[in-house]
Amino acid sequence: MQNDLLALKTETDAALAAAADLRAWDAVRVAVLGRNGRLTGLLKELGKTPPEQRRERGAALNRLKDDLAVAIEARRTALEASELDARLAEEKLDVTLPPRPAPQGLIHPISRTEEEIAAIFGAMGFSIAEGPDIESDWHNFGALNIPAHHPARADHDTFYLPPIGPLGGNEPPRVLRTHTSPVQIRSMLAAPPPLRVIAIGRTYRADHDATHSPMFHQCEGLVVDRDITLGHLKGCLIDFLRAFFGISGLPVRFRASYFPFTEPSMEVDIGWNRRTGELGAGGDWLEILGSGMVHPRVLANCGLDPREWQGFAFGMGVERVTMLKHGISDLRPFFESDIRWLRHYGANPLAPVMLHEGV
Ligand code: PHE
Repeated sequence: MQNDLLALKTETDAALAAAADLRAWDAVRVAVLGRNGRLTGLLKELGKTPPEQRRERGAALNRLKDDLAVAIEARRTALEASELDARLAEEKLDVTLPPRPAPQGLIHPISRTEEEIAAIFGAMGFSIAEGPDIESDWHNFGALNIPAHHPARADHDTFYLPPIGPLGGNEPPRVLRTHTSPVQIRSMLAAPPPLRVIAIGRTYRADHDATHSPMFHQCEGLVVDRDITLGHLKGCLIDFLRAFFGISGLPVRFRASYFPFTEPSMEVDIGWNRRTGELGAGGDWLEILGSGMVHPRVLANCGLDPREWQGFAFGMGVERVTMLKHGISDLRPFFESDIRWLRHYGANPLAPVMLHEGV
């Protein structure tokens, strides 16, 4: 090859090797094969070559042109491959990474409290019982020792349902359950003792203001066995309240009261500070739930011999304990679906129920 052509080939090869990316490569290509490129220039000068050398020079230039085209093309393929490799290395997808949590909405504080209550009583060996929201008058009142003209009926602002069915208005009355206590009756009728159940669900009373909603939630508890005493009731509820509120020394007081379906009956109070609203040893007492030993007549109404079986029961308001635990002062937003309130008080659905005091 003629010297100048050899130099062009060597320099182009070097420039191609030095081109680190496709931009630099394209600059080399244009500098050699472009309209003002070096090879293009040499081809243009072919006309000035003495005729006796022109043939040989022309053939050499064409061979060089082919060589350079091949070398340039080869470099492009190599650069494209390495750019792809680099991108693949950089955009590596680690399929073992945990997924990023997508925003998913939150758990309503009522549901969260229900989960916590179930977790605590679950750890104590309780299982979940259920009953219908529409109850027979007998389950809601009669079997619980609240007969038709009992004054305790007046305490419950009951929603009665219109009679429907084949008896043309003579059906036994049905109500929206005013408490979860009918699930006590259903549990005792459904399975023989020993029983250890809680029932969480909706309850209804015709009452509506800042602290009362016509629909609210209760949690009922029932234990029936041969040797159940008031001591079991107290130990169970003290442990529950301390675990639920996360206060290990939470003062708990049992105060004599009256419910038709328990004897003796007790109102349970927890310690708090009336001024600051803080729960604990604040010197004041706050009523939190109702409880007592299952009335012998209630056991008998469910076919259990009260000389053989004894039990305790309790009932508490789910909204009430939620409000106390989280410092919520108004009951109404629980049922208003205000997204700002829900975002503030809602719980992360992926976070497990954590009760710092354990059980
Ligand atoms: N059912 C009662 C209420 O709604 C609470 C309660 C349940 C009391 C069980 C004693 C035993 O007020």
